[in-house]
Amino acid sequence: MNYNEMYQAKLTTPEKLAEALQSGWTLGMDSGPSQTPALMDAFAARVRGSDLRDVKVHTMLDVYPYAFYADDSLAGKMTGYSWFSSGGARKAVNGGWADFIPAYYRDIPGHIRSGYSYDAFCVAVSPMDKHGYFSLGNNASYAQAMIDKAKRIYVEVNDKQPRAVCGAQLHISQVDAIVENSFPLPVLPPVTLDEVSIAIGSLIAEQIPDGACIQLGIGAIPDATGMALKSKHDLGIHTEMFTDSMVELIQCGAVNNSKKQIHRGKSVTTFAYGSQRIYDYIDDNPAIELLPVEYVNNPEVICKNDNMISINAALEVDLWGQVCAESVGTKHMSGSGGQIDYVRGACQSKGGKSFIAFTSTAKGGTISKIKPILTPGAVCTTSKNDVDYIVTEYGIAHLRGESLGERARQLIAIAHPDFRDELRFEAKKRGIMI
Ligand code: COA
Repeated sequence: MNYNEMYQAKLTTPEKLAEALQSGWTLGMDSGPSQTPALMDAFAARVRGSDLRDVKVHTMLDVYPYAFYADDSLAGKMTGYSWFSSGGARKAVNGGWADFIPAYYRDIPGHIRSGYSYDAFCVAVSPMDKHGYFSLGNNASYAQAMIDKAKRIYVEVNDKQPRAVCGAQLHISQVDAIVENSFPLPVLPPVTLDEVSIAIGSLIAEQIPDGACIQLGIGAIPDATGMALKSKHDLGIHTEMFTDSMVELIQCGAVNNSKKQIHRGKSVTTFAYGSQRIYDYIDDNPAIELLPVEYVNNPEVICKNDNMISINAALEVDLWGQVCAESVGTKHMSGSGGQIDYVRGACQSKGGKSFIAFTSTAKGGTISKIKPILTPGAVCTTSKNDVDYIVTEYGIAHLRGESLGERARQLIAIAHPDFRDELRFEAKKRGIMI
C-alpha cells in the first residue's frame, strides 16, 4: 500500500472515531496549538449522549474552550487533568470539577512513560509529506513519550499547522486514525508595551551582554523584555516557549545564535505559541529546532551556553525571596512550567543570570507583589535558595547568596513606594532587618 492509500484507509470523521471511546479511557492530548479541538468536541458529545463514564483527558496549556473544562455537569463522566492550567482549565480546577497534576515541565515525559497508561494520544499535525511523515508543528515537548506509550494515535490534520523540519515527526504507519480540520491556529493578543513594562524591559536589557543566550518565560513582562533587546548583537535563543518577541529579535538581526556553545546557528525551543508570524517563521525553517522538553529544559543542558539569561514572571515574592508564580493565595493560576529549570540553568551557566520580573503592584496599585510573607496558600515556585535577581519598574534586587536582611533591604527598595513603610515595619517586627 502506498502512503496515500494508507492515509485514505485511516481517514475518518471525529464523530465516527468518537464511537470507539470507552468508559475508563485515559486520553493524552498535546498542548497549545498542537491540540485537537474537533476530536475533543466529538468525544465530549459522545460522552454527553451516552452512559460512558470516567473518561480522563490529560492536557496542558489549553487554547480551546473544551467541554470537560467549561461544563461542570461532565465531571466524573469526562474529566480534565491539567499539567499547566490556562483558560478554561483554571476555572475548572478552581471550581473543583477538573484536576491539576503538579510537575516540572521537563519531568512530564517521564511521568507519561512510567506513571500512566494512555488509551489514545490526540495531536494536531501538518499535512503528510511524500515520505509519509506528519510534522508535529509547534510542539515537541512530551509528544514522543505519548507516541511511545499510547495504545492508539489519533491525528487531526490541519493544513495551517506549520511543518517544522527540525521538530517532532510522526509516520503514517504509527497512526491509527486521521481526521481533517482546516482552521487558523489560535493566536495570543499582541504584547502591549506600557510605560511600566518598558521600564522593566530596559532595566533587564542593561544587564544582558551582546552574545548572551536568552530564555523568555510566559506572560506579558518577559515578552516586553524581549522587545527591549532589539539593539543587542549576536544573541542566541534556548527557551521553553518560542515567543513573538523572539521572531522580532531574529528578524531585526539582534539574534543570530552565532555565539552559542551548543546548537550554534539555531534557535532551540520545546514549543511555540503566539502570533501567526511565529507559525510562519517555523514553517519549513531549519534555523529553529523544536526538541523534547526533557532535553530543552534540563538545567545541565541549559547551562552549557555561556551568558545564559532567563527572564520569567511571577505573581508575588516574599522577603526571603520565595517566588510564587502559580497561584493567588489558594486560587490556582498555572503550573511551574520550566521556571525553576531556567533559574537553575542560567545560574549554573558561565556569566549567566536569572531574572524574575513583575510590576510592583496588582489590581490597580492596591496590592503589593512584594510581601512580608507569601499569601497563605500561595505556591512557592522558585525557592529562596535558587532565586537570583528580582526586577520591578523600581529597580533590580540581587538575592542569590545574600543574607535575609540584605534581601529584605533590596526588595523593599524595589517595592512600590506606597508599600515600603509597611514592608519595613513587618521586616523589623519579624527581626529580618536589624
Ligand atoms: N495578587 C492578586 N492578583 C494578582 C497578583 C497578586 N499578587 N499578581 C497578579 N495578579 C492578577 C493580575 O491582576 C491578573 O488578573 P486579571 O487576569 O484579572 O487581569 C492575573 O493575576 C494574571 O497576572 P499577570 O501578571 O497579568 O499574569 P501573566 O499573564 O503575565 O502571567 C504568570 C504571569 C506568573 C501567571 C505566568 O508567567 C506563569 O504562568 N508562570 C509560571 C510558569 C513559568 O514561569 N514558566 C516559565 C517558562 S515558560
